[in-house]
Amino acid sequence: MKAMQNAGAVALLIIAVGVGSAALPAQAAVSSSAIAAYSIAAPISTAPSGLVARAIVAAGVDCPTLDVTSVGGATRSITMRERPRPARTSPAFDSLTVCSSVMPRGSVSASIEGRPIPARMPARTTRLALMGDSGCRISARQVQDCADPDEWPLARIASEIAKERPDAIIMNGDYFYREAPCPAADQALCGSSPSPVTGMPFTDSAYGWLADAFLPMAPMLSVAPLVAIRGNHEACYRGGNGYFYFLDPREGTSGACAPIDVNGTLTAAPTLPSDTYAIDLPVTTGRTLRLAVVDSAGGNDAVVEAYAAIQRPAYAKAAALTAPRAGRESWLVTHRPIFGILPTVFATPGQPFSQWSSYDQGAAAYGLLDSYDMIFSSHQHLAQAVQLPGQPGQLILGNAGTELDPTIGYSLPTTAYTVGEGKTYPMPSWAWVDVTFGYAMATPNETAGSWRLDMKGTDGSRFARCGVRDRSLYCATAQ
Ligand SMILES: [Fe+2]
Ligand SMILES: [Fe+2]
Repeated sequence: MKAMQNAGAVALLIIAVGVGSAALPAQAAVSSSAIAAYSIAAPISTAPSGLVARAIVAAGVDCPTLDVTSVGGATRSITMRERPRPARTSPAFDSLTVCSSVMPRGSVSASIEGRPIPARMPARTTRLALMGDSGCRISARQVQDCADPDEWPLARIASEIAKERPDAIIMNGDYFYREAPCPAADQALCGSSPSPVTGMPFTDSAYGWLADAFLPMAPMLSVAPLVAIRGNHEACYRGGNGYFYFLDPREGTSGACAPIDVNGTLTAAPTLPSDTYAIDLPVTTGRTLRLAVVDSAGGNDAVVEAYAAIQRPAYAKAAALTAPRAGRESWLVTHRPIFGILPTVFATPGQPFSQWSSYDQGAAAYGLLDSYDMIFSSHQHLAQAVQLPGQPGQLILGNAGTELDPTIGYSLPTTAYTVGEGKTYPMPSWAWVDVTFGYAMATPNETAGSWRLDMKGTDGSRFARCGVRDRSLYCATAQ
């Protein structure tokens, strides 16, 4: 049963527009000292081109040059600069150096030591890849088989996304899940995984990030810019230091999760929302999709707590950045869903339980969602779409590799989603769920605000077709 409720089985004409593909420059294979090379979408205040280039090299190796060719054919080489390692994290990140450079405006091709990286943000967006929740889970309670691509399919998904030739990849967070040493009894599953570094008030490390993100994601990182979102697994006591070192696009942020000294004890920094920013994706002449990127790494999913007030300015800024403007449509992109539906099997007997998630986000965003055509989140390890009357459709895709959520127990909530006194959201009219590994490809339809969303599995085949129109989502599982 894929649809939780059939809201009148709406027949919809889905109009496909021409699909474009960004051609990569022909490059001879050249040996490179870069362990990883990629481009991250950045706010214009960071990079007028909307893009920064990154390279990860072994510690002790000089930062390479970024070689770019501009529209007119002129070439130039820019020496990349070391991004500061987060303070007080030694030795967890000491083995690698992150190098960074703003991508010059007008670049048409770019490479780092002969290795091509995306050179520009799309001038015309025809295909976006959407994904979330990708790391291989190793915790004290749960171990995923990181050595079996059927059990942890991130590399396959990244390879399929590379073949899709998207214009950009929106990765909605939860990259890092290797939070414990591989148990002795599970060596066949995760024996090759780097362990957290003893004595650190966080769980990530340079080698952990290579294993969980940069090695399996390499094929797609050479193809399209990454819009990198922070998940709760990138909270400061988990993988936050690596997130801010490797993936946050902004200057001066790599220490945002640097541990603090509390009476001589190294302690994780508090997890706070980083500043909200916008990424613009031109669709056609006079039509632009604006992504409002909200950091929801912190907060409580099950109840409204004081954190909601700390989180609210992030949504207020997102609302201001997406104020209605002719030709602009907007998506809220944030890791934790505003309108997520949990399976009833998550309930603990004798404990209060609500199917709604995430309460702190729902409270923080209350009354601030009018400008969005859609909310794209992850966090739940599945594909889900939820519609509340008068609210933007909520798409959830957290199925890019991390162990999936239960396949049973989903139903349309019948209890109110109340996030404060006098703050109750309308009851949902429709929802859909499919607990399958994969990703989605978003293609704009002709009408402003309307997109086709193809849900794809680990082999690239479509398992469901969804779409958004007039702020409403719809989905149909492929026959
Ligand atoms: Fe997750
Ligand atoms: Fe999450």
